[in-house]
Amino acid sequence: MTERTGRTAPSGPTLVIRGGTVSDTTGERRADVLVADGKVASVEERIESPRGAVVLEAEGCIVAPGLVDLHTHLREPGREETETIETGTRAAALGGYTAVVAMPNTDPPLDSAEAVRNVQELSLSATAEVAVAGAITVGRLGERLAPMAELAGLGVRLFTDDGAGVQSAGLMRRALEYARGLGVILAQHCEDGSLACDGAMHEGAWSSRLGIPGMPAAAEEVMVARDIALTRATAGRIHFLHLSTAVSIEMVRRAKAEGLAVTAEVAPHHFSLTEAATAGFDPLFRVNPPLRPASDVEAVKLGLADGTVDAIATDHAPHAPESRDLPFDQAPPGMLGLQTALALAVSELDLPLQRVLALLSWQPAALVGLDPIGGGGQGGPIVPGAPANLCVIDPTATWTVDPSALASRSRNTPYAGRRLTGQVRHTVFRGEPVVIDAEAQR
Ligand code: DOR
Repeated sequence: MTERTGRTAPSGPTLVIRGGTVSDTTGERRADVLVADGKVASVEERIESPRGAVVLEAEGCIVAPGLVDLHTHLREPGREETETIETGTRAAALGGYTAVVAMPNTDPPLDSAEAVRNVQELSLSATAEVAVAGAITVGRLGERLAPMAELAGLGVRLFTDDGAGVQSAGLMRRALEYARGLGVILAQHCEDGSLACDGAMHEGAWSSRLGIPGMPAAAEEVMVARDIALTRATAGRIHFLHLSTAVSIEMVRRAKAEGLAVTAEVAPHHFSLTEAATAGFDPLFRVNPPLRPASDVEAVKLGLADGTVDAIATDHAPHAPESRDLPFDQAPPGMLGLQTALALAVSELDLPLQRVLALLSWQPAALVGLDPIGGGGQGGPIVPGAPANLCVIDPTATWTVDPSALASRSRNTPYAGRRLTGQVRHTVFRGEPVVIDAEAQR
């Protein structure tokens, strides 16, 4: 509920987030939060609201640092009919995110200073921070390195050819060496093309039964194994995108135990859906890496529970409605994720909310240097003077996913009609209440 809403003054309105439980890296405590001039002004058990302040009710809710998505496809430039920076960051805000890493597989790809600057400029009025990821190779073609130093000079901290893996081990080795010198992270989409071929789902009993070309788990696993070896050889640092198999998770577990600088994310669809969802041939369930057997889903959940996996990342991948009319193996892979990630994590993972928030907010923020230590204002802690990037979550509210109600320009969620627990009530981005009572404010 709001006593007063209104357009944001440049300095940001004064807000009181009232009656919630603050949860951040330092733990949980009952507290009101006062926000002024874009920053957290105070965190006290009871704060009287100053005259004219906007009051955001948080009774029964958790007040957390805004979520940070390491893996968002915003599609601009090039595929604006499926998503734009404006619609994608609106969906992000509604999902509780105050920062997203924008993937570079746009058209043109983000492999040059000009392309990166363009997205950075287009993002200035977005309702979430957009951290631009750069391509590792020119055109994401896997042949020559992109001008990584120049892009790092523009603030790019994460490089990936996502949508494709870097196929050449030699080139990946050079990229790791180069990235180490620049202090940036390489993020690999693990998919060996010679094994994946034209596979459209997980290779196994289901793909045989359905007659859909399969992609073996080994297509992912050989690249994870190779890149761990290269990380060891170069003393480099690697982040594995959307890992999906038990063997991949186990390799990361061992690499971490060895002390290598390896991190990993998983996507909500890899802990909430299995390959069996493919049985209806609905292209909504086509995604890369593909949905896997239940044993892999369990391994992904275990990896989240035991700290092997560092982050839950959406791989929000909007596609036009027409793509649903295509046969399964011709449809583009990918599904929406920004507005369902938190609720899927709350509903599907048997983890305390504090752990879920670590995986969705402060761990990804730290991983990509958006946290206060890395020089950013994301991921908390919620203390006086910190930039006010916050979300307020009702952890017990239930809701039903309605594709037509999503803010994305696309509709390709595989969760239509699914009842979920955990709802984002308010989102505050740089002191501005961009979502109030689950409604986008602009
Ligand atoms: O399913 C996917 N879709 N996986 C990717 O890695 C890329 C993404 C896309 O861009 O559509």
